[in-house]
Amino acid sequence: RNVRILGAPTDYGANRRGVDMGPSAIRYAGLAGELESAGVSPTDAGDLAVPHHATRDADAGAANAKHVQEVEEVTTSLADAVSTALAEGTTPLALGGDHSIAIGSLVGSARDADIGVIWFDAHGDFNTPSTSPSGNVHGMPLAAALGVGDFAGVEWANAAGLTEENVAIVGLRSVDGAEAEAIRDSDVTVYTMSDIDERGVTEVTNDALDVATDGTDGVHVSLDLDWLDPREAPGVGTPVRGGVTYREAHAAMELVARSEAMRSFELVEVNPILDEHNETATLATELAASAFGKRIL
Ligand code: ARG
Ligand code: MN
Ligand code: MN
Ligand code: MN
Repeated sequence: RNVRILGAPTDYGANRRGVDMGPSAIRYAGLAGELESAGVSPTDAGDLAVPHHATRDADAGAANAKHVQEVEEVTTSLADAVSTALAEGTTPLALGGDHSIAIGSLVGSARDADIGVIWFDAHGDFNTPSTSPSGNVHGMPLAAALGVGDFAGVEWANAAGLTEENVAIVGLRSVDGAEAEAIRDSDVTVYTMSDIDERGVTEVTNDALDVATDGTDGVHVSLDLDWLDPREAPGVGTPVRGGVTYREAHAAMELVARSEAMRSFELVEVNPILDEHNETATLATELAASAFGKRIL
């Protein structure tokens, strides 16, 4: 298949400067070559325009939804780029940037289809401005795309092809109090790290694929690198101990490939400033290859 790489170099959804350099670090780590080794043909569409910090008020947005206008600008253009890529017969691969970009990926992927979602992440990213302890929109994209919460006047573009019943979070181990309540009140399916401990990553991932493919046209796979244990992926802004191992992450991505259900993909939260010798970016490229079908033999 043909893959279209879409860089989204933004950190407006996160407090940590540096995650905006993620697309560059992932490309430098050899993304295109890894994808070719998986048997797909990548075309790099370059980076989306992201407003420069120097041109924006440092305190823009509401305190409980920081830089929400900038996030809206970036995600609106990403949504268009994702839906255009799909319409032109290519599979979009968005490179973050912080996880707020997922609002754009989801809206774009859902524009002309009914989609499911697998959210590989330490976090639920199900906060809203009224529940978020940080005000960082990267902790809110799943709620935003599902139409949950009031975003300080921002109406995210229609992601009506996305229903909670087809969303699965895998690897959860850090969730805020009111966020946990919102997840429990939703119809999203959650597989925590305890579920992975008890049942193994392959069984859990296959269950998540069942949730996301049930009655849908395809699946958006969102891979936050903090899903992995910080020993494997140190270059992230919000690390949480107790994540999946290198092998578990590859096993999950291999099952994603085998399902042939992936419609769109994203790699987010790689922060080269916090990384060690670009190893988190390198890991991201390797996991992308597995998700697109790279085999050992
Ligand atoms: N739950 C925290 C918050 O809402 C952390 C979110 C981290 N999200 C991420 N995509 N890394 O601020
Ligand atoms: Mn996370
Ligand atoms: Mn739709
Ligand atoms: Mn996340």
